[in-house]
Amino acid sequence: MSSYDLIVIGAGPGGYVCAIRAAQLGQKVAVVEGRGTLGGTCLNVGCIPSKALLHASHMYHEAGHNFEKMGLMGELPEIDWNVMQGYKAETVETNTKGIEFLFKKNKIDWIKGWGVIEAPGKVKVGDTVYDTKNIVIATGSEPSPLKGVEVDNDGGTIVDSTGALVLAKIPETMVVIGAGVIGLELGSVYARLGTKVTVIEYLDAITPGMDAEIQKQLQRTLAKQGLDFVLGAAVQSASVKDGKATVTYKLRKDDSEHQIQADVVLLATGRRPFLNGLGLEGAGVALTDRGQVAIDDHWRTNVPGIYAIGDAVAGPMLAHKAEDEGMAAAEVIAGKAGHVNYNVIPGVIYTIPEVASVGLTEAAAKESGRKVKVGKFPFMGNARAKAMFQGDGFVKMIADAETDRVLGCHIIGPNAGEMIHEVCVAMEFGASAEDIAMTCHAHPTTSEAVREAALALGGGAIHV
Ligand code: NAI
Repeated sequence: MSSYDLIVIGAGPGGYVCAIRAAQLGQKVAVVEGRGTLGGTCLNVGCIPSKALLHASHMYHEAGHNFEKMGLMGELPEIDWNVMQGYKAETVETNTKGIEFLFKKNKIDWIKGWGVIEAPGKVKVGDTVYDTKNIVIATGSEPSPLKGVEVDNDGGTIVDSTGALVLAKIPETMVVIGAGVIGLELGSVYARLGTKVTVIEYLDAITPGMDAEIQKQLQRTLAKQGLDFVLGAAVQSASVKDGKATVTYKLRKDDSEHQIQADVVLLATGRRPFLNGLGLEGAGVALTDRGQVAIDDHWRTNVPGIYAIGDAVAGPMLAHKAEDEGMAAAEVIAGKAGHVNYNVIPGVIYTIPEVASVGLTEAAAKESGRKVKVGKFPFMGNARAKAMFQGDGFVKMIADAETDRVLGCHIIGPNAGEMIHEVCVAMEFGASAEDIAMTCHAHPTTSEAVREAALALGGGAIHV
């Protein structure tokens, strides 16, 4: 039996990145993963397959809506759902195989099976107990259940995000429960492929936590693309009869009860840490009152030698947040100074237009008691965006009115998910809006809109 410096439990973006960094730092590392392929939820049934479907459905949407305007005449392509599913599967496979390659390259052992922490320094997989100096819990999350709505991914009528990626066919109608990231991304995929999508959301706005102006603009744009929204509505139950689902919801404003039917219901009301069967109770690992593994600011649990990262702990459930924590925890374990700046973690919604944000929203900045200034620039003033038929949307930059320091940025528009990173770098360096405004940006690029928003915080934007 081998013994290790570090055993990481879970091979998602948090776990595999942690393992690679630890191996780079000279540790003998194993990763325990029970799924047949590496990469966790993100690579297998989350970020990557959904991005493949988003790309394919966007191409189809473009063919139907914008090709003729550019002189690309011809019939609308037919959708071969099986081929599209194959493209998605291939995208996933090349990425999961890539992680296997990285494990071999870094001499990381993949222990296949589900791990149980028997005690500090002991991880049991099947009948074998492995000794290790340290353990990192990187077991990720699973969809949260909703009372009255029973998910049956095999049945294919009431599904969660995993089931929604492998529907037998493109449904005619779909109800999405929850206007969060998953609901809007997967709702968009099917809406673009011709499904009539209705999104039911408990709150009065979509995408909770986002900047209010972005919420409104995104809802308007998605509504133009054919998504219907029922806001302020609490879903009570969903039932299936003869292959059709009925969803019952109550409007919060008057408690009135309503029903809607659909071929498919997607439950997307959040995720919760996946800690079942991990042996945490036996090992004495404490949880928070929200069911996450409790950690200190160095990812240490209350039990010496056991660490936790990613969706299993508090904070936004984002692959890149987990990756950063994985790298930092590996460095702490190796005796170095691991660090994550939780104030600069971007969030992206991969709809069209994309939405990206970092730092404080305008409301949160004002609540913090600072004097705040806001610079906005519409993509209508950006030549590149207009050439792509994506002039709707804007960049909104928030800065401290006294120091000009950038506090946050919120973008809805083309390539938002790429553009946000210049603001992330600026914020990491404590930049002022003027620093961004004084930086030459190539023309014509959509990034110029970020500079224009920074200019709007000072002497004024040019193209408005
Ligand atoms: P979410 O927390 O983003 O949104 C869930 C929504 O469901 C909320 O708006 C909530 O108000 C609503 N809701 C809850 N109960 C309801 C009810 N009974 N009736 C109607 N609406 C109800 O959760 P989501 O979309 O499931 O995503 C889970 C996690 O995965 C999130 O933390 C998200 O950040 C992450 N994720 C991130 C992605 C990205 O970065 N692009 C992509 C996919 C997921």
